[in-house]
Amino acid sequence: MKGIVSAAAAIFCFLAASCSKPTAMQNAKRDIHSFSNPEQVRVKHLDLDCDVLFDKRILKGTATLTLDRRDGAAPLVLDTRNLTIEKVEAGGAEAKFSLGATDPILGAPLTISLPANAATVRITYSTSPEASALQWLDPPQTAGKKRPFLFTQSQAIHARSWIPLQDTPGVRMTYSARVRTPKDLLAVMSAPNDPNAPRNGEYSFQQQQAIPSYLIALAVGDLQFRPIGKRTGVYAEPSVVDRAAAEFSDTEKMLEAAEALYGPYRWGRYDLLVLPPSFPFGGMENPGLTFATPTILAGDKSLVSLVAHELAHSWSGNLVTNATWADFWLNEGFTVYVERRIQEKVYGRAREEMEAALGRQELEREMAKLPPADQILHIDLKGRDPDDGVTSVPYEKGTLLLRSLEEKYVREKFDAFLRQYFDHFAFQSITTETFVDYLQTNLLHRDTQFPLEEWLSKPGLPATAPRPTSGAFEKVAAEAKRWASNPSSRSPKPAWTTQEWLHFLTALPPDLGPEKMRNLDRAFSFTQSGNSEILDEWLLMAIRNRYTPAYPRLEEFLTSVGRRKYLKPLYEELVKTPDGRERALAIYKKARPGYHPIAVRTIDGILGMAKATG
Ligand code: BES
Ligand code: ZN
Repeated sequence: MKGIVSAAAAIFCFLAASCSKPTAMQNAKRDIHSFSNPEQVRVKHLDLDCDVLFDKRILKGTATLTLDRRDGAAPLVLDTRNLTIEKVEAGGAEAKFSLGATDPILGAPLTISLPANAATVRITYSTSPEASALQWLDPPQTAGKKRPFLFTQSQAIHARSWIPLQDTPGVRMTYSARVRTPKDLLAVMSAPNDPNAPRNGEYSFQQQQAIPSYLIALAVGDLQFRPIGKRTGVYAEPSVVDRAAAEFSDTEKMLEAAEALYGPYRWGRYDLLVLPPSFPFGGMENPGLTFATPTILAGDKSLVSLVAHELAHSWSGNLVTNATWADFWLNEGFTVYVERRIQEKVYGRAREEMEAALGRQELEREMAKLPPADQILHIDLKGRDPDDGVTSVPYEKGTLLLRSLEEKYVREKFDAFLRQYFDHFAFQSITTETFVDYLQTNLLHRDTQFPLEEWLSKPGLPATAPRPTSGAFEKVAAEAKRWASNPSSRSPKPAWTTQEWLHFLTALPPDLGPEKMRNLDRAFSFTQSGNSEILDEWLLMAIRNRYTPAYPRLEEFLTSVGRRKYLKPLYEELVKTPDGRERALAIYKKARPGYHPIAVRTIDGILGMAKATG
């Protein structure tokens, strides 16, 4: 905790000493999660050239950075984590550099002295096998079981573990890359991908839009492509790709819905990449190529709100970006709002209502467990890893704020406001303060009735926060009540949607007991559910109620899936009892080698294992 503060302070002094003018540093908000000094020297373009070495589990190559030198006397400070720096050249000649002390959260600053006229630096480096952004999968961890797989996850501050750069969302850059892989594997990146690229182990990419570092992404594996629509398609391993194309067949419609609301899609193609199950997130909005977990392949399109979500980031997040991780709600709250508007257009209001109602329910459930400081939208992350700020607060509280604005100022006006907001700040990174200014000027007109300050800076929810309701859920809740009181109730299995089943499960009392659990399972086969959301909810209940027949399935789920959203609550529920804790440790021992470093950090924390360092 202290390390991060003092390291940031040290670099601040270092910068202040080398630049006597107060400069932009007083205006531009410093990103406390980066050592870099963009106010003085700003990276405009990255050219990456690297070999993907599966046997050593490293990337090895060069990163060439093009600089905008605002202060000609200042050195360049980059973020790194666990990188081995071999050589640095600036303006064609070797340059002096020093790697500072490692902070457990931030990594280490790389300070490079720049000769007077140098406009580029080239860093020759390699990553560590433990790089927090990289997961190297052995063949057994893939669908095909024959070839290895590599994927990156740069958000929030993991890009620095595979590329030396200014790892702050406040800095945007274009990039180009050349990536060499084993000949039979395909490399794809968060840049326009050519679905017909010859598979020869040499791939090149160009991202011509300026993006923040957390959106730089790479994946390498035995991948195939299937088109979905004229601008959309899916990459996945051969045994998964057809299933994925069927599941995501509405993607083109979603894209059209989003464009109708918020203006043209500015990233060329929109493709999805389905990763192996260890991917620690549901989805990641890498520009032009969303990375997704295979756990959303339910077979009935019931979990594709995730596609709507990642697609929505093409406006909220990728186009208009949070400038620091304290502003993360600007990315996620807006995105959940846009996601639900897309859902409404493509699947109808009833589906949207169910998802919104589930969202508020989840927010209340989670907020009840969060300390007040973590219930604040504009969160203070001093001394913390920004990954710790990822709760339903930025997502669901953020979206309720926008919904509240929509309700108060009327949809038509709010839609026009949002569209104008995306255009106005397109390809910029903004802070919460900038948003507030813009909102005051263009929608609120200083209306003091709207509790904006309370929304942004207070824990909990304002009394006026919307309460999305779903007519369908009322019937479901009645049915849950019936099951809770009558352990042997028998009736035909209702023809419910996934969202209704989820509401049914969460509407049941927490202390059902094993007997009623067994009756439910007999009637509805929850333990065998192939729907990851339903299964997750059921397994949580199974732990709480000591419903032992579900334990083998729980172990199978925890050892085969690495999605943090599922792992975290399940392990948290397990460790609440001594025998549960034992079971958690035994399962984790088997599962840990297959989890992503980001998930490992989280679960290590829950189980009180060796100091989590990311
Ligand atoms: N950008 C996030 C994922 C993320 C956030 C990764 C912060 C690392 C740090 C992505 O858009 C997201 O929100 N994914 C959700 C799915 C969504 C439907 C709520 C997830 O992974 O569960
Ligand atoms: Zn998101």
